[in-house]
Amino acid sequence: MTDTVTIAVDGPAGSGKSSVSKEVARRLGFGYLDTGAAYRALAWHVLEHHADTSDAAAVVDAAGDFDYAISLDPDEYWVRVGETSVTEAIREPRVSSAVSGVARVPVIREHVNTMFRRLVADSGLPGVIVEGRDITTVVAPDAPVRILLTAAPDVRAARRSAELTTQDAAAVAAALHKRDASDSQVVDFLTAAPGVTVVDSTDLDFAQTVDAVLDVIRSGTGGS
Ligand code: DC
Repeated sequence: MTDTVTIAVDGPAGSGKSSVSKEVARRLGFGYLDTGAAYRALAWHVLEHHADTSDAAAVVDAAGDFDYAISLDPDEYWVRVGETSVTEAIREPRVSSAVSGVARVPVIREHVNTMFRRLVADSGLPGVIVEGRDITTVVAPDAPVRILLTAAPDVRAARRSAELTTQDAAAVAAALHKRDASDSQVVDFLTAAPGVTVVDSTDLDFAQTVDAVLDVIRSGTGGS
């Protein structure tokens, strides 16, 4: 048993969930766990093994020696595989394209979910904002606060393209759409499960979204 409070936040790419979750963690003095980064680190690892990320058996094989570490500190974010820092490498387009293939293997999901629960339980922190696609439903269905952060697809594409200034907006929108379609074959992250609070950030700026999430957390945990 742990006294660490889990705050579960799910949402699609470009919903702002990573930046919002990090800021919420800072404000509350909580940790921040980016579960997508674990899937990305594993995809990077499989690519390093020159394994085919669409071949489930090859993915499971390559995952055998996956030694992964991630910071829970929202102010000092890093991801390592073995001794190698992969914090930047896991954002490369080749990893983004490969990651859905890795994430759709059930035994891989079970393995990383166990890792996530252990990371939270051993964190020694008062709380951890755990962010991903299936946190509200599979990883932490009993969390006291579960949030689905959404935004309209065109708004998500516009935000993503503002982050990736090197790519044109149409290409970013197409890539986002493709990944939504691929990711939603693995988990339904666009519909709120019973008991999950939807925060729609379509018409909210960053600060307003952070405030909206903090309001949900405070009412869910009895904080003020
Ligand atoms: O949030 P992100 O874009 O960094 O996630 C990377 C990939 O991992 C994405 O394609 C969906 C997948 N993912 C998942 O299947 N389950 C999670 N809990 C988190 C991410």
